[in-house]
Amino acid sequence: MFRKLTLTAAVALGMAAGTAHAAGDSEVINYDFSFEGPFGSYDTNQLQRGLQVYTEICSACHGLKFVAFRNLSDEGGPMLPEDQMRAYAEFYEVFDPLLFDGEGDFRPATPADKFPESSLSNAPDLSLMAKARAGFHGPYGTGISQFVNGMGGPEYITSLLTGYADEPECAANMEIPMDGYYNTAFAAGGYPEECTYEDGSHKYPGSWISMAPPLYGDDVFYEDGAATDLESVSMDVAAFLMWTAEPKMMARKQAGLTGVIFLTVLSVLLYLTNKRIWAPHKKKD
Ligand code: HEC
Repeated sequence: MFRKLTLTAAVALGMAAGTAHAAGDSEVINYDFSFEGPFGSYDTNQLQRGLQVYTEICSACHGLKFVAFRNLSDEGGPMLPEDQMRAYAEFYEVFDPLLFDGEGDFRPATPADKFPESSLSNAPDLSLMAKARAGFHGPYGTGISQFVNGMGGPEYITSLLTGYADEPECAANMEIPMDGYYNTAFAAGGYPEECTYEDGSHKYPGSWISMAPPLYGDDVFYEDGAATDLESVSMDVAAFLMWTAEPKMMARKQAGLTGVIFLTVLSVLLYLTNKRIWAPHKKKD
């Protein structure tokens, strides 16, 4: 019985930990992020680089309306020094309805303000995107995979940003070309009949997304000298978006670890207590 159970667990783990999983029709690569696994933590420098990429490129269209500027200084986040965070906030203008005798006016943002909403109406807000797109790790639904491989959202975002490709041949010669840009990670867009098998399955992963490729590599200049190739820059901004979606991840993991240690100690003590309490009775036999 026990051996059978272990075998099942091992198989489940093995399946769950499988790399580069293509769920549905989306090609998502299993990148390694510093914050994965039970002991992983955010890399402060990476979060700062990701903030830079978001600011210089993504913010042209996408908002982060659930994130307040002051959070940029929080422990476990990008940890911008207070003065830098204030200066960063002042870059943004917010509409304050109380100014100008109740008529409202624009003013520079303060640390208490939130990032603006998306300026392009069909570009989704990115605050929670890394969690909204978390579930790619296979159909097994054990949760073990999430535990071992991380949430999946940052992998999806990185795969999306690096996933632009030439249109597959079946779509290249269509009378009415597809709207948007072919992307191997994006599964939510339109898909032409020409590229579909008779049973309805797709000949190629991905579909057409209306976001033009925002990154090409060497899009930013990093002061810390980190790599600026397409994949590295994409991972940086994906890590930053994981932080915006899950800013308290470090505190949560810490609490979990404390809990596990506490329960381990408690179990040992209970075991010993139990032995001692029953010891006189056991001896009689
Ligand atoms: C020129 C405007 C523009 C820029 C710049 C831009 N995006 Fe987008 N983005 C869009 C639009 C429009 C969509 C909606 C696409 C769709 O649903 O077809 C989108 C969608 C997305 C999605 C959601 C995809 C999904 O699964 O629904 C993510 C994630 C994303 N963008 C990330 C980024 C990141 C990260 C950057 C910066 C590196 C960025 N975008 C820069 C316009 C933009």
